[in-house]
Amino acid sequence: MKSKNEAYINHDPYRPCYHLSPPFGLMNDPNGLIYFHGRFHVFYQWNPFETNHGIKFWGHFSSTDLLHWEEHPPALVPSEWYDKNGCYSGSAIEHNDKMYLFYTGNVKNQNGERESYQCLAVSEDGIHFEKKGPILHVPKGYTPHFRDPKVWKQNGRWYMVLGAQSNSLDGRAVLFSSTDLYHWEMLGPIAGSNWNGLGEFGYMWECPDLFSLQGKDILLFCPQGLEPKGLNYKNLYQSGYFVGHWIPDTNHYEHGEFMELDRGFDFYAPQTFVDHHNNRRIMIAWMGMGDDNERYHPTIEKGWIHALTIPREIKVIGDHLYQMPIKELKKLRSGKPIMVNLVLNNENDEYSMMINPQSEIIMNVHSLTNGRLEITIRNNIKLKYDKNENLFTMERKKFDGSGLESRQCKVNQLRKLQIYLDSSSIEIFINDGQEVFTARFFANPEDHTFRISSKAEASMHLQLYSLRMKNSCKSR
Ligand code: FRU
Repeated sequence: MKSKNEAYINHDPYRPCYHLSPPFGLMNDPNGLIYFHGRFHVFYQWNPFETNHGIKFWGHFSSTDLLHWEEHPPALVPSEWYDKNGCYSGSAIEHNDKMYLFYTGNVKNQNGERESYQCLAVSEDGIHFEKKGPILHVPKGYTPHFRDPKVWKQNGRWYMVLGAQSNSLDGRAVLFSSTDLYHWEMLGPIAGSNWNGLGEFGYMWECPDLFSLQGKDILLFCPQGLEPKGLNYKNLYQSGYFVGHWIPDTNHYEHGEFMELDRGFDFYAPQTFVDHHNNRRIMIAWMGMGDDNERYHPTIEKGWIHALTIPREIKVIGDHLYQMPIKELKKLRSGKPIMVNLVLNNENDEYSMMINPQSEIIMNVHSLTNGRLEITIRNNIKLKYDKNENLFTMERKKFDGSGLESRQCKVNQLRKLQIYLDSSSIEIFINDGQEVFTARFFANPEDHTFRISSKAEASMHLQLYSLRMKNSCKSR
């Protein structure tokens, strides 16, 4: 599909250069992440007609290096009675040399009520898919908010975890198992709001993902309906995880506390997959949030909205998930970095320079006395670290122009920041992925300023790389 205004879109200064974004229309969740026949595939929720959440297709990109992406025709298009109002989120697996996609068929019936069907589509080449229809119906005890199948193989069996809402209007993650991928047996919930000791924890859980990593069983999910609590749960919806231990035979899952994956504004519906080649688990998320801010994205008038995060490798350290930019991203660094040793005193000392809107900035903090460090990016984003309170803050200009908004989290000792900047996004990895802040921002395209100021005695080393892509952003 090509649109008339594609050239126009590509001249948009807010168009990402190395993040995936839709050719036009709206992008949300990443779907069906898989390494198949030598290529990485990223599918995504796509409304090709409008920049709102109307109908959803599965858009499709693939790549050999996770950096340069080729666009393919949409893999799934709502066309059948069981998916006529949207091919909703899901996952991919490889079996007998074929790719299997599991997705949710979203249907609005004659009475305007929702129906959900978990559906299967199969492909030999990873490009053309044959729909096999529904393989699972909403079980008793659940509302039609039953979706986002994530499928994997473990000890010779197939498993599927689904995001659900119980009839009591509690969010749940529900498990199924199969030996042939067509017939699924319900094992029951593995975790949920007001279930198995958890207490009130949201009216719906979306996009679950269950996997084992370094001997721990991690459940990622997106609870909706949590109230803000201290510095936590500040966005409309949350994305987070439990670390625990799951026993498949009894379907018992013992887990710790819910932890948020990202502390910024725009991060939702993450999905992971295993890159067997490199023996690592990679996570990609939607760099968006279905909140009121969507209306104010300036890219809407150019005919597109949203993007995905960079791929991140995840690891468990203790009971905490760490996220790091995949190593391939180093190949985007162009030319020699700017390297600076900075010593700032506590009298509002400042260092400033011009940066490329596509940059990677690494800051190693050697020492910091009590006080505050502040980084201002393109006069739109402000990062602050308050050493007295061990508090990290990200502040940005609100999209509706009405002032500033911020997100915060505790960071006991700031040792390192690694910042990925693209035309209209920022991803900050603190202390090698211990905490991450992700956000979109829309700075004045002419403003390339970068400033560090200090109300502390600080010494640090800065490394700054311009990032370059071979085939995109060249028209600007
Ligand atoms: C999450 C989500 C999923 C659903 C999809 C529809 O953002 O609401 O639960 O499958 O988006 O686009």
